[in-house]
Amino acid sequence: MTRPGPIPPKPASRQGKGSVWRFIRDFRRDILSAQSERLYTAWMAEFRGPFIHSFTCNDPKLVDLILRRRPMDFPKSPRMAAGLQPLLGNSSFISNGETWLHQRRIIDPAFEGGRLRDAFPAMSAATEAGVARLAPLADGRDIDIEPQTSHIAADVIFRTLFSIPIENAIAARVFEAFRDHQDAQPMVNLGGLIALPRWARLHSRRVRDSARRIRGLIRELVTARAAEIAAGTAPPDLATKIMTTPDPQTGNRFSPPEMIDEVATFFLAGHETGASALAWALFLLAENPEWQDRLADEAARHPTPDFAAVKSLSVARAVFREALRLYPPVAMTVRQCRRPEMLRDRHAPRGAQLVLSSWHLHRHQRLWNDPDVFDPGRWETENGKTCAREAYIPFSAGARACPGAGFAMIEGPLILSALARAYRFEPGATRPVPVMRLTLRGKSGIALRLTPRAPTA
Ligand code: HEM
Repeated sequence: MTRPGPIPPKPASRQGKGSVWRFIRDFRRDILSAQSERLYTAWMAEFRGPFIHSFTCNDPKLVDLILRRRPMDFPKSPRMAAGLQPLLGNSSFISNGETWLHQRRIIDPAFEGGRLRDAFPAMSAATEAGVARLAPLADGRDIDIEPQTSHIAADVIFRTLFSIPIENAIAARVFEAFRDHQDAQPMVNLGGLIALPRWARLHSRRVRDSARRIRGLIRELVTARAAEIAAGTAPPDLATKIMTTPDPQTGNRFSPPEMIDEVATFFLAGHETGASALAWALFLLAENPEWQDRLADEAARHPTPDFAAVKSLSVARAVFREALRLYPPVAMTVRQCRRPEMLRDRHAPRGAQLVLSSWHLHRHQRLWNDPDVFDPGRWETENGKTCAREAYIPFSAGARACPGAGFAMIEGPLILSALARAYRFEPGATRPVPVMRLTLRGKSGIALRLTPRAPTA
């Protein structure tokens, strides 16, 4: 039995109803703390504002309906797309209908099991490089772990997608420009997702500039790869697979502009999310030394896991899943009713916004035992197993679920395990406060102290 550590940080919620304008004001500051406390117990909450009619859906039956049973009737909301469009164009992350089906028919084969096995050595190399990069920082002083996990996750994406390490000149510039883009994204655009009218969601020049810079660099990578494919010299990585796979229904391959949209998406969806999940997982381990020791013991038993062995890193998997539950990197997403619907006992008109909040669903008090407690052991309990099926959507669910979920569930445990084998993590001087930016981040970073872990006898 592992003793639970302190309750992990959770932003204070809005109490009572309050005015719509107060909600919008709070929302612009921080989406999570603007949400009502009621969302941790309600099955559904209706919100009518001056520019919006929305329903936050926590009832597992509604989540199932929207994501799994009838996804085509609940397309992605254009409000959400608007915030991401300068960077992602019309990629699979924001498109709908036939375009989206075509994109997924090409992308999905690149993330099948066999392909992940092929990508594994690149992931492993990025992990080892990440462990080495942390060595000079492991002197017991406070460091912000987020830039470090970003660096590792970005390296994984570049190595698996384009067979280049983060030290490559273009990769390094893309990584840099992404940092700028993340900083430049005002809350309001992310929250375009939920409540704001179009005029309030216009992009700043900085957002547009950083997006243009990133897309220009990705264009260079895609053009060079197209030439290598034509010359028969392209490495067999994810980019080559995606660029050479025809849509099985139409026979069409991605055009260069389509490929730029997708690469920007893989980079954003793949590295921001992984970085966020790893940073929160390390913080949770720092506050729960018993789990950290269990993880380090497991890691010492599997010092250089191969693809098959990652499956047996059960402590690392359980910790990573629990971190994704408490701190889901994509904390909310929004769908839209294509036609009028009855949701529970309420009438939802065509165009109503449906908010699926993994943040609230994963901490719902009527579903989970001890929802706010960090307990990787919960996945072995009946409640944990039921909730994993019905109330756990860190990668979304159904046809529109994250195509990189399998990739992430290898990458995350692999990196956690390697880091816990090399270092001991302790909490820094200040506790992080979760805020929703492009992904779920610490308001002022996530402070941790690292020291080298003595090898076990
Ligand atoms: C811990 C890591 C990750 C998490 C938590 C995560 C989470 C998610 C979630 C929740 C969605 C659905 C978003 C929505 O419905 O609005 C999504 C979509 C997507 N993710 Fe991931 N993701 C992760 C890693 C990756 C990786 C490694 C890749 C690819 C390299 C990737 C590529 C995508 C793409 C292309 C989509 C759009 C799918 C669609 O709409 O059809 N993700 N991801």
